[in-house]
Amino acid sequence: MKRKLSLVFGGAGFIGSHLCHRLLSLGHEVIAADNLSTGRVENLAEVAAMPNFRFIRYDITCALPTALSSLGSVDEIYNLACPASPRQYQSDPVKTLMTSVAGSLNLLQLARTTGARILLASTSEVYGDPLVSSQNENYFGNVNTTGPRSCYDEGKRAAETLFNDYRRMYGVDTRIIRIFNTYGPRMSADDGRVIPAFITQALKGLPLTVNGDGSQTRSFMYIDDLIDAIILMMANYITHSPVNIGNPVETTIIELADIIKRLTDSTSEIGYRPMPQDDPRRRCPDIARARDALGGWLPTVNLDDGLTATINYFKTSII
Ligand SMILES: NC(=O)c1ccc[n+]([C@@H]2O[C@H](COP(=O)([O-])OP(=O)(O)OC[C@H]3O[C@@H](n4cnc5c(N)ncnc54)[C@H](O)[C@@H]3O)[C@@H](O)[C@H]2O)c1
Repeated sequence: MKRKLSLVFGGAGFIGSHLCHRLLSLGHEVIAADNLSTGRVENLAEVAAMPNFRFIRYDITCALPTALSSLGSVDEIYNLACPASPRQYQSDPVKTLMTSVAGSLNLLQLARTTGARILLASTSEVYGDPLVSSQNENYFGNVNTTGPRSCYDEGKRAAETLFNDYRRMYGVDTRIIRIFNTYGPRMSADDGRVIPAFITQALKGLPLTVNGDGSQTRSFMYIDDLIDAIILMMANYITHSPVNIGNPVETTIIELADIIKRLTDSTSEIGYRPMPQDDPRRRCPDIARARDALGGWLPTVNLDDGLTATINYFKTSII
């Protein structure tokens, strides 16, 4: 039987590399494409030599390279290419916006010509600083169009629009997932996201830097739960509507700091600093649609177990 051909854009990143591993373990042929702006080839070291795997350095805002434009048929396209940490996506906001918009357009065109099904990794940030909690997919959000986070939030919102318009105009088979905070091994230690930041600070005995008073909440999903959901979302006919994928257990940032201190046996202090502009106060997904559409899918990894696996990764990679 012919292997499924899957293209993973953003394949050298945190989520992309886990997806490549999983698709290869399912017997797919995988091409990972990435401009390596925030991703690393080391994330793909374990699969690099596999016969069904190929890596192409490619920026999705540019014209497709021959290696991709000459592919006759493709089964699946995953668009994960976009910096995800505020520090990284704000460092070149115009590029971030273009990555979501022009990049999605290029990949949708590729899906149209190859007949591939295509999935967009959208984000909970499309809800902005939500006025309701928890957020379900019918909530239109509370997003600042001109703030420092807008390049990411509005870029993803525009990408969702493009995905829907390509489906309605050209019949492209689209999927959209709105990912809530996800963590795990292979995150970058220094990208500013709260879990790698706290873990590396705790392991080095530095103060854990909490924004504001730490009472703002996030809901953290372990990477394996997300990859399960992505595979289900792509495999079955489910829905073209956006689907929240996240863990609904809410944790305050100060609780997270305490848990990480406990799991690392750290004596680090807590250091407080001002809240960044437009930082959401609450983040909690309503995952009823995902549960119904994905055959009962629910996150299964609790925070202690997921953090322990992540801490073990950082112990070997940063020390
Ligand atoms: N991790 C999360 O909690 C989370 C939450 C919501 C949404 N997402 C989305 O999931 C996707 C992956 O996020 P991640 O956490 O793995 O981040 P990441 O930074 O580790 O991965 C993003 C990858 O995309 C690549 N990339 C960026 N711009 C590109 C471009 N123009 N062309 C080609 N490649 C490009 C980067 O080099 C990197 O490998 C992103 O689209 C992000 O918006 C992630």
